[in-house]
Amino acid sequence: MNVSANYETDQNLRTRQGIWAYGAGAPLVDRVLDLAAVAETATTVDVGCGNGGYLARLRQRGHRGSLLGVDLSPGMAAKAGAASGATTAVADVQFLPLRTGVADLTLAPHMLYHVPDIPLAIAEIRRITAPSGRAVIVTNTPRHAYEVHAMFAGVTADLLGRAATIAWDGPRFRSDQAEELLPAAFDVVERHDLGRVSAVPAAAAVSGYVGSLPPDALGVPADRRAEVLAELERRVAAHIAAHGSFEVTSGAVAFVCR
Ligand SMILES: C[S@@+](CC[C@H](N)C(=O)[O-])C[C@H]1O[C@@H](n2cnc3c(N)ncnc32)[C@H](O)[C@@H]1O
Repeated sequence: MNVSANYETDQNLRTRQGIWAYGAGAPLVDRVLDLAAVAETATTVDVGCGNGGYLARLRQRGHRGSLLGVDLSPGMAAKAGAASGATTAVADVQFLPLRTGVADLTLAPHMLYHVPDIPLAIAEIRRITAPSGRAVIVTNTPRHAYEVHAMFAGVTADLLGRAATIAWDGPRFRSDQAEELLPAAFDVVERHDLGRVSAVPAAAAVSGYVGSLPPDALGVPADRRAEVLAELERRVAAHIAAHGSFEVTSGAVAFVCR
């Protein structure tokens, strides 16, 4: 699957991020940064920084230390720099062009599941993080967005005669694999479940979420894709009309590693 093409710009990521805006309470970014408990002057590296949500929020929270965003996608790195004012670089988390121990805090939110060699990437995150520092790695439980997956499976079963599964952000690095892999690199790994329910009020947000994924992540023939997405949106709209919203469970889990 061509992950990079999906992240050429932040348009697809922004669409997917939109679905989580309907959860109650503080945004995930703030809850992760609260756990990171970073000193205001700490040197922070955000790997797979995407469109810079964490970097921008750190600055808004008064962070005065060096901020570096790293992403494989030049488009994302540029977006993150513009959004946050942080220095950004195009690089692969598996081979970071950074000094050993440079970071007081390394962030790797929702990105390791895309990486070919996950243990190598974790070793790199450990390497660039100072011995006294910490890394905060975020991924999802296997239940993440299960309502969307179930609705999609139902639609494809009815229209295509077989239930298709969405293959995108798993299953190589969900919370269970993280629990197995992270202790190989870090002495202390603390798990924090940050999942909650997002009550999505608009069907287009759900069909947009699925439609933002690469064609081969959906397992739907190209000539049936529009029909599947339209039917998904119709069923979600019917659910919202009956219940007021379509609830989607986030299974976000943050691992604070030292
Ligand atoms: C789901 S987005 C997460 C963005 C951001 N961390 C956030 O939580 O909002 C995943 C990001 O990881 C980047 N990425 C994927 N593989 C990567 C790699 N091997 N090295 C660095 N970045 C990578 C993608 O380009 C994308 O911007």
